[in-house]
Amino acid sequence: MANEKSWQARIAETTDKLAQSFVESISYDRRMYKQDIAGSIAHATMLAKVGLISEGDRDAIIEGLKSIEKDIEAGNFIFDESLEDIHMVVEAELIKRIGEPGRRLHTGRSRNDQVALDLALWLRDADRDVTGVGFLVMQLQRAFVSLAERSIGVVMPSYTHLQRAQPISAAAEALAWCAMFERDGVRFGAICRGDLDGHNSPLGSGAIAGSSLGLVASVTAELLEFGSPPESSILHTASRDQACDFVYACAMTAMHLSRWAEQWIIYSTTEFSFIKIADKYTTGSSMMPQKRNPDTLELIRGRCGNVYGDLFALLTILKGLPIGYNRDLQEDKRIVFRAYDTVSSCLTMAAAIVASASYAKENIEPTLERGFLDATSLAEYFVTKGIPFRTAHQIVGSLVAQCEKQGKTALGQLSLEEFGRAVKAASPDASIGVDLYEALGAKNVVKRYRSAGAAGGQPLQEQLKAWKERLGMQ
Ligand code: ARG
Repeated sequence: MANEKSWQARIAETTDKLAQSFVESISYDRRMYKQDIAGSIAHATMLAKVGLISEGDRDAIIEGLKSIEKDIEAGNFIFDESLEDIHMVVEAELIKRIGEPGRRLHTGRSRNDQVALDLALWLRDADRDVTGVGFLVMQLQRAFVSLAERSIGVVMPSYTHLQRAQPISAAAEALAWCAMFERDGVRFGAICRGDLDGHNSPLGSGAIAGSSLGLVASVTAELLEFGSPPESSILHTASRDQACDFVYACAMTAMHLSRWAEQWIIYSTTEFSFIKIADKYTTGSSMMPQKRNPDTLELIRGRCGNVYGDLFALLTILKGLPIGYNRDLQEDKRIVFRAYDTVSSCLTMAAAIVASASYAKENIEPTLERGFLDATSLAEYFVTKGIPFRTAHQIVGSLVAQCEKQGKTALGQLSLEEFGRAVKAASPDASIGVDLYEALGAKNVVKRYRSAGAAGGQPLQEQLKAWKERLGMQ
């Protein structure tokens, strides 16, 4: 026999079976049992404090809730679908276990403020937990920092427009990804803590209009570590802004993961062969015996699409909803959990891949002098000799053209006389010397970088040091 629902008295018929499984959310909102119980313990504590229930009832409620939590954690608990959601399941079980005191718990409360609270608490835990999304982001960052450390001596081309640009240390690229994910960590932190939502507790909002009872919502707010009680009972039961922000943060992280995955997929091609990830993270082909495919990277790239879909689903569900609770809002959790699960598993997989990876110096270096990577460095050398940058740019541009015409593949193959002639023509007063050759060659160039955040030289050493400190890797 199904348990009786708390609202059954008003409804003439028992819920149709089809309707019951259609409206239920217990199959997924059971993930919030911890938060639901924590919220109820705070609520009962407040009710006793203001004299709405006795201290004895409060103690019975808290003890009952804790025993339910223990049973859920031990796997000794049946979630009854006929009770719809985690709120009704826990409350019904509490009444079953402790009788009348349990019937007082829902005083001044509605599932509408309860579910808003549970979700806010769940989102907070999603970042705060030791294996939460904040931790996973950090674990990935650490993997990039370790990769940077073992790649500091690898010089490689950087690309703009996917054309060879300037030489960089491979470590700088690894740290660029680390820095990109730092933004995600910060974003998750701010959103999950509720920084964007004023740290208001939804509890005490009731169904929509608050309560005529002497609830003191600042007490529950404090117990649950919110900054303040509800600002508007109507807003807090109707809003899912924090959920949207969270799924947006998931979408941003997924987008960053997708960009990184694509880059490494390109680097894994025979044409590039710049990066090697462990065999255990690749798969073969059922037909082509030689294949070694980066499927893990491809799935990380692809799953970003699921998370974008989640963001759009949530925004679309909220579109046009009148202000107040509407059952449509129940769909939020399905989406939030799905986005969280996708991003969490992608972050975990990404960290493992990065930890296994190395830049293939032996493939990168033989072609390093192709593409005139040192052209900008040469122009900057001319600047140090007093030549205006625009003029220097033109001189180097014509020198590159001259090399190509003469079948030379690198600027360093030109003689000092040839450099001298080109400079004299454009800037008669400037004088250059053999030190010019120190500004040429990818490896020399990387050592010369001096500007903040640059992709080699001292600035790179500083970045590496700062990341190790920031991520507790000393
Ligand atoms: N399961 C519901 C949800 O997730 C809880 C709130 C239901 N409130 C209601 N009045 N039916 O949104």
